[in-house]
Amino acid sequence: MALQMTLKQQRACTRASSRQPFRAAAPAVRPRRCAVRVQATAAPNDLNNGLGFQTMRDGVKVAANETLLTPRFYTTDFAEMEELFSKEINPNLDMDELNACLQEFRNDYNKCHFVRNETFKTAADKVTGATRKIFIEFLERSCTAEFSGFLLYKELARRLKTSSPEVAEMFLLMSRDEARHAGFLNKALSDFNLALDLGFLTKNRTYTYFKPKFIIYATFLSEKIGYWRYITIYRHLQRNPDNQLYPLFEYFENWCQDENRHGDFLAACLKARPELLNTWEAKLWSKFFCLSVYVTMYLNDHQRTAFYEALGLTTRQFNQHVIIETNKSTERLFPVVPDVEDPAFFQLLNEMVDVNSKLVALDADTNTPAFLKVLMKLPLQERLASQLIRILFCKEKHCGSVDVAGSAAAQQLAF
Ligand SMILES: [Fe+2]
Ligand SMILES: [Fe+2]
Repeated sequence: MALQMTLKQQRACTRASSRQPFRAAAPAVRPRRCAVRVQATAAPNDLNNGLGFQTMRDGVKVAANETLLTPRFYTTDFAEMEELFSKEINPNLDMDELNACLQEFRNDYNKCHFVRNETFKTAADKVTGATRKIFIEFLERSCTAEFSGFLLYKELARRLKTSSPEVAEMFLLMSRDEARHAGFLNKALSDFNLALDLGFLTKNRTYTYFKPKFIIYATFLSEKIGYWRYITIYRHLQRNPDNQLYPLFEYFENWCQDENRHGDFLAACLKARPELLNTWEAKLWSKFFCLSVYVTMYLNDHQRTAFYEALGLTTRQFNQHVIIETNKSTERLFPVVPDVEDPAFFQLLNEMVDVNSKLVALDADTNTPAFLKVLMKLPLQERLASQLIRILFCKEKHCGSVDVAGSAAAQQLAF
């Protein structure tokens, strides 16, 4: 649906673009509109025949089944979250860094970045067969993850509005960004004739409960790992343009800066409540959440090597690079992180991939009777459980933000 921008909108977009910290990587076409719709529909066609996708109506895909490794929707104890950031309850809450983040969000650097052009649909129609299937799955997972962020941040903004208006505004502006990301991905899915009904998902998907502090650890990590994933794919495709099968990835350079800013805001939330970073409990949870995020991504991506290979990436190399870089970003803040550069770490992760792939293969096997599958899975599940326990005790690094008095890094500097 093409809408011409008014002169006022065009001027606003020009001003916003001139403030971009990086040059926009989008193709040089005249922007048509600033906002991106979250909802999308698509016309059916036969390129998807035989790929095994189900539709709930024409052009609208039935969402993939939820599993332990699929992106989730989250909810939390909003009253407890209010207590964490209420200035009335915490008059000494350090707002300096939070307010600096708020200013960054208000600048809205990517206001006019997510503008599509006619090359999207043409490129999507050229992606066929197994690559098309794996592309659609990647887009669906990414769209669901971005939309999950939108729902959580939007609800946090609504609930914190009275007790902590600045923090509420930051969550609102982050939900704005996530809505753009989810909308852009859903439009991409509609290029592949299989958009998601996000309204339906909102009402029907299971919401996982996390305590507020766990929400902050987990979202900080997922924003930072999202940043490293997007920028790594972007840089790889800049060096290997022949592997760019679809124009979506050209948008990742500015897009990932949104994720980086979101991560910085969540880091500022943690620093404003130093007890979330400098207690023995914080040390345990920091390492635990790093491991959960890294293991989930590693196992997930190794189930989908075809996607990364279609882009000319090596799944193992890509994942290890993303984990090492995310860990470097995280060790500036968290008091303890796993030592991912210890060779034993990735060796154990690779062993987990082997066991997990055998479990996945058993699940997919239609020739083996169900009761036999259960029996065959038992020793594999036992091995995976023991590997998970071993990874919890992997070598760790004591680190942390020097800004937080009492952190290991601050003590090292206190000479
Ligand atoms: Fe996002
Ligand atoms: Fe984000």
